[in-house]
Amino acid sequence: MNGNFSFHNPTKLYFGEEAMSHLVGELKNYGPTVMLSYGGGSIKRNGIYDAVMAALKEAGKRVVEDAGVMPNPTIEKVREGARLVHDNNVDLILAVGGGSTIDYAKAVSVSAWCDEDPWEKYWVRGERPDCRIVPVGSVLTMVGTGSEMNGGSVITNRATGFKRGRVFGSDVMPKFAILNPRFTFTVPQYQMVAGFFDIMSHLMEQYFAGTADCTTDYINEGLMRSLIHSSRIAAKNPQDYEARANIMWTATWALNSLLKCGKGGDWEVHQIGHAIGLVTDATHGMTLASVSLPYYRHVMHDGLHQFVRFAVNVWGVRPEGKSDELVAQEGLASLEQWMREIGVVMHSRELGVSEENIEKVADAVLILPVGYRTLTRDEVVQILRESL
Ligand code: NZQ
Ligand code: ZN
Repeated sequence: MNGNFSFHNPTKLYFGEEAMSHLVGELKNYGPTVMLSYGGGSIKRNGIYDAVMAALKEAGKRVVEDAGVMPNPTIEKVREGARLVHDNNVDLILAVGGGSTIDYAKAVSVSAWCDEDPWEKYWVRGERPDCRIVPVGSVLTMVGTGSEMNGGSVITNRATGFKRGRVFGSDVMPKFAILNPRFTFTVPQYQMVAGFFDIMSHLMEQYFAGTADCTTDYINEGLMRSLIHSSRIAAKNPQDYEARANIMWTATWALNSLLKCGKGGDWEVHQIGHAIGLVTDATHGMTLASVSLPYYRHVMHDGLHQFVRFAVNVWGVRPEGKSDELVAQEGLASLEQWMREIGVVMHSRELGVSEENIEKVADAVLILPVGYRTLTRDEVVQILRESL
């Protein structure tokens, strides 16, 4: 292990088929007014809305409804939500949905009582909140982002042409999260598989950084192996409870700040993915899938030792008698085979990227000076072109 770090994650998790039974007790810890934030209506069709409303009623809450949080939530929607929270003096924001709804709830929580423009303060200047922070709780319905147990809040601003992630501190993380794997059974296959790749990307983007022998990498490898195993089962049979439960648990640990302890991170695939999401509004996990192989093949030589380790420890590649380069390539070939098996999008053109908008996408990519190689803009364009 190298470096100094602190680890503090205050989110209380309730996991399993009985997890919802804890919602009433949690609600009782907050004041009388709850804003119920949710997306486009899936929770009304699958019964989760009714279960949440019953708990809110039992806890005696006044409910402010806040529907229509879109995938890739926008700053305009955040401003609307912030007004609702402010005007109703909301005591708790209950986010019921996937990463978009939970990210949005965190954004609203730090914006409702903020005197400045929240976009400029938090997503441009990266400042900490210095106003009242409205607590957030969540009921997770879609697995992938880890938003249920982290401070991440990814918001899109189409007016300025950016989709930006911001990681807030423990004061903004959800106070509690209800994780019932069965709630994810109605997620369409395309979304489900996108979530699987999002998890893999979070794992890889923390794995492909640093040079030291690090306990964190062993934890990461275990999570990758569990994900690969269970995703193969779930892609064929989405109703397999054990597989979906394993994946839900893996997703939460993949991005709750454990895996960055003692390590840096890469996160360039996410930056390219966010730029594709900004221009095409494509599903987050699929944007990552479409660029990952060109990206990793591009940077493989800069972090060869870790790509060899990935091949051997994660994919079971036999290294005997092979050059490091060949072993690393075989690891990435195994990754490719798994991606095809679970059915993710392999080409960014399927998401709406083309020669016509490739420069626009490249302009929106934030280039981070971390990972094994800092890309130039030309390299970003090259990777995007290879992803088509
Ligand atoms: O809006 P509804 O009707 O609920 O439908 C949603 C949405 O269309 C649907 N869905 C969710 N649960 C369902 C369901 N449909 C049927 N049954 C259910 N049980 O799924 C669609 C996608 O939902 P969304 O919340 O957008 O998906 P996801 O969880 O992948 O979140 C994506 C957002 O999170 C950000 C992404 O950039 C993107 O904006 N991320 C957040 C991160 C974080 N907080 O740390 C990190 C990630 O890397 C990611 O960037
Ligand atoms: Zn992600």
